[in-house]
Amino acid sequence: MAVKQTLSGKLTALQVMQDAAVIPVIVLHDVRHAVPMARALVAGGIRMLEVTLRTPQALACLEAIAREVPEAVAGAGTVRSAADAQACAMAGARFAVSPGYTHALGQACRDAGLPLLPGVATGSEIMAAQEDGLTELKFFPAMQAGGPAMLKAWSGPFGDVKFCPTGGVTPGNAAEFLSLSNVVCVGGSWLTPADALANGDWARITALALEASRLVR
Ligand code: 3PG
Repeated sequence: MAVKQTLSGKLTALQVMQDAAVIPVIVLHDVRHAVPMARALVAGGIRMLEVTLRTPQALACLEAIAREVPEAVAGAGTVRSAADAQACAMAGARFAVSPGYTHALGQACRDAGLPLLPGVATGSEIMAAQEDGLTELKFFPAMQAGGPAMLKAWSGPFGDVKFCPTGGVTPGNAAEFLSLSNVVCVGGSWLTPADALANGDWARITALALEASRLVR
């Protein structure tokens, strides 16, 4: 596998999306899992990691990855408020992903220096994000909100927007999403199954990452 150049400094949302075909959506319940999991994903060619703020350990996990796995790029997911944006930036997150969009969240991420991939599911939400200068968006929840057909419909009126569909994306349907002209990458939780994390099965996570990083875009 080609060695990727280290990504230092501030990233753009497009850089976050372009790095690999899949952004893993990660739920960590144990801070001891964070570093070996991040190394396992990097070994499989996936280094943009979305650690969701869904557990009390999430910020400590972000901190651990940021400190101990410099070849990974740790970002925060499930960022819903200005306080979340500030907290994850303090923990070392380099990007933020949210399940929806508000102007206040956009402002907080700008203030914190975090590129934001905000979740959208309707035309009005896309327009609100665009009004604030955001053109790289997460389509969430992708399968439930219309799947590939919805993205095709948006490619006309929103031809200047690029998407990362997330929610219900699987190894079985990822290729269909990735073949669309307005999709840069997809997001999904299948790279870090809860049982693999609990059992410390890092080889399985590397294998899943390898498979994902080979998806054609
Ligand atoms: C989430 O928010 O949990 C993500 O959208 C991941 O969804 P998935 O588990 O369907 O991949």
